[in-house]
Amino acid sequence: MSQEIYFPPKEGATIVSKTDKTGKITYGNELFIQMSGYTESELLGQPHNILRHPDMPKIVFKHLWIEISAGREVHAYVKNKTKNGDFYWVYTTVNPDFDSIGNITGYYSVRVKPTQSAVQKISEAYKNLMGSDADKKLKEILGGKSYEEFIIKL
Ligand SMILES: Cc1cc2nc3c(=O)[nH]c(=O)nc-3n(C[C@H](O)[C@H](O)[C@H](O)COP(=O)(O)O)c2cc1C
Repeated sequence: MSQEIYFPPKEGATIVSKTDKTGKITYGNELFIQMSGYTESELLGQPHNILRHPDMPKIVFKHLWIEISAGREVHAYVKNKTKNGDFYWVYTTVNPDFDSIGNITGYYSVRVKPTQSAVQKISEAYKNLMGSDADKKLKEILGGKSYEEFIIKL
């Protein structure tokens, strides 16, 4: 059975990974590797969707890629799948990395432990975003707010 796994109860623990411009993993900190269930060499060079959980709506990642490839920071709640099929929730901040003349060279993500109540609310919202009418549903759920404004209140 698929089980939820949790951040270790360590103050300030973060799960960090970096990717190239196409989303292939170039770095993961110790906790990233540990939580994923893979070894470092199994992760490096792989597309970041190696962690994608089937419960995650496509539209969330669509939003993420539109924003980060335009050079903007993104926040999101993400359910990730481990190597053996377990899962863990994170609250992630994803940012572009820039070179000295402002070109995007890759991206990095810093994930913290989300609150239980935020996970409960967002997982309900995500269930409504799994169909082909996700764009319409998202607008209804957001009620005029941006995704970012919506999740900040969770
Ligand atoms: C820095 C960075 C970190 C990411 N972290 C995750 C992650 O932890 N889990 C995840 O499912 N997707 C993550 N993604 C998004 C994936 O690149 C991908 O868009 C997503 O898994 C959906 O897969 P798909 O685009 O093949 O549908 C990350 C992307 C970037 C740039």
